[in-house]
Amino acid sequence: MRESTPVTGWRPRPDGSTLGRMPGAETFRAADAYDRAVGRYGPSLAAELIAFAGVEPPMRALDVGCGTGLLTAALAERLGAEQVAGAEPSEPFAEACRARVPGTEVVVAAAEELPFADGAFDVALSQLVANFMRDAEAGIRELARVVRPGGVVASCVWDYAGEMTLLRAFWDAARDVEPERAAAADEGVVMRWCTEDELRGLWEGAGLADVRTGALTARADYESFEDLWAPFPTGIAPSGAFAASLDEEGQAVLRDAFRRRLGVGDDAFELTARAWAVRGTVP
Ligand SMILES: C[S@@+](CC[C@H](N)C(=O)[O-])C[C@H]1O[C@@H](n2cnc3c(N)ncnc32)[C@H](O)[C@@H]1O
Repeated sequence: MRESTPVTGWRPRPDGSTLGRMPGAETFRAADAYDRAVGRYGPSLAAELIAFAGVEPPMRALDVGCGTGLLTAALAERLGAEQVAGAEPSEPFAEACRARVPGTEVVVAAAEELPFADGAFDVALSQLVANFMRDAEAGIRELARVVRPGGVVASCVWDYAGEMTLLRAFWDAARDVEPERAAAADEGVVMRWCTEDELRGLWEGAGLADVRTGALTARADYESFEDLWAPFPTGIAPSGAFAASLDEEGQAVLRDAFRRRLGVGDDAFELTARAWAVRGTVP
């Protein structure tokens, strides 16, 4: 196998373990690969997040870190495209979102610096984004700033260490194959915001009131294991970046270990994925 690609730029967690800035945000560029990878869970997760946040017409909603527009499309369906805006720092993803949700304003911007007026929205959502922000505390404060008093800020993150089946099986397989490197990149270990308590602290720290957390369950259908594996070697997301850092032989070994961990083969199957959700009200 070729030399390992070092993972850099992490910052320590409050408890001293090595968590935080993951390689990953910079991998969010190929919209098709994203939609075939984690994006497969986007529509069902979006339906759950919208219900959890209590999004209803005639609200005006902002989707922060809207990516290729999977949550944005669900919001537009519920509220009308003109009642929804998206913000996304990756230009190709913002472009994919515009194509997916015509009539919705999509700006190229990060959560930490949203180009919207104070109180411009009734609700701000972000789906699977907090762990990729440069500064999540500043990002959530910005979401709260652009929502009117009494409005809602809500978000969700994967249960990386537990029941996000796809990613848990991926990192367990990676740890079977390359124990040291995979342990240092495992999203169940390195992601900063992935428990209900951590999300509650983030929301309360941003000054949000009546903070509530809960579990959401998303689903994805696959034609076969090959269908599931195909986007990984493209390098999309932290898991894809890890797969793409291996040479052909290493990828084949990882692929087999992953398949064994999932216990699936050439037939169609469904996977479920748990996300932790949080919502709070702007005082
Ligand atoms: C896992 S994807 C989620 C995309 C989309 N919300 C979804 O549910 O499919 C993470 C997204 O966060 C975006 N992102 C990275 N850094 C960000 C930041 N500082 N502010 C807002 N979004 C960011 C990435 O470009 C990517 O689109």
